Amino acid sequence: MKNNIRIAIDGPAAAGKSTVAKVVAERLSYIYIDTGAMYRALTLKCLNENIDLENELEVTKILPKTSIQLLPSEKGQQVILDNKNVSEEIRTSKVTNNVSLIAKLSSVRDEMVKRQQILAEDGGIVMDGRDIGTHVLPNAEVKIFMLASVEERARRRYEEEISKGYDSNLEVLKEEIAARDKIDSEREFAPLRKASDAIEIDSTHLSIDEVVNRIMEIVRERVGQ
Ligand code: CDP
Ligand code: CDP
Repeated sequence: MKNNIRIAIDGPAAAGKSTVAKVVAERLSYIYIDTGAMYRALTLKCLNENIDLENELEVTKILPKTSIQLLPSEKGQQVILDNKNVSEEIRTSKVTNNVSLIAKLSSVRDEMVKRQQILAEDGGIVMDGRDIGTHVLPNAEVKIFMLASVEERARRRYEEEISKGYDSNLEVLKEEIAARDKIDSEREFAPLRKASDAIEIDSTHLSIDEVVNRIMEIVRERVGQ
């Protein structure tokens, strides 16, 4: 396998991006980069500091003072915000339900995209998000756009929450996912969109293994091996 290519995986919430991206990265011995975690970390900081998430000036002010590191570890990628491990905290519903407000601010996107491009500089990465194929890595060698019906995506999140021992409500989850998709797809800057050269995979009726195998096939085809 040709080394150090860049694999971009985009798609709506709970389509299975991070799950398959991690496995693909493992199989290729590549680094996995979860760009959503960066927007989540900034959202957490704003919530903790009582910064109005829709006040671009206020959010922009704290950006240069905000350090976000993504560290690979045995337990999966660890997210370090200003030297504190926030890997669990960034997954709370408070953060999840507010992150799209932060992610639609153009100054936030500009800065995050710059940081993500630096992380991807040497290649050998699988990066997932919403705008990786369209804005962050427009020249990525492989671009995947993952889809699944909103019912299936809500069901998956529901199963995930129940298996962790949390209370959950399928209908509420469905509404929250649809609301986030709407903001992400309709925002002015770098909306969630399939890149013209991305390959679409609808995983509604596919297992994780089936999606991973499909992506590995595409990778092999693209790099000519
Ligand atoms: O894993 P899940 O689909 O719940 O979301 P995520 O990947 O952690 O992303 C959280 C939010 O960050 C998304 O709903 C987007 O608002 C934003 N995001 C983005 O705008 N651009 C990216 N490249 C990644 C995430
Ligand atoms: O990263 P994203 O928000 O797109 O989704 P995820 O967190 O990777 O996947 C959401 C849930 O769906 C996880 O619990 C996965 O195990 C599950 N999943 C699945 O059941 N079947 C797939 N083909 C892909 C993911």
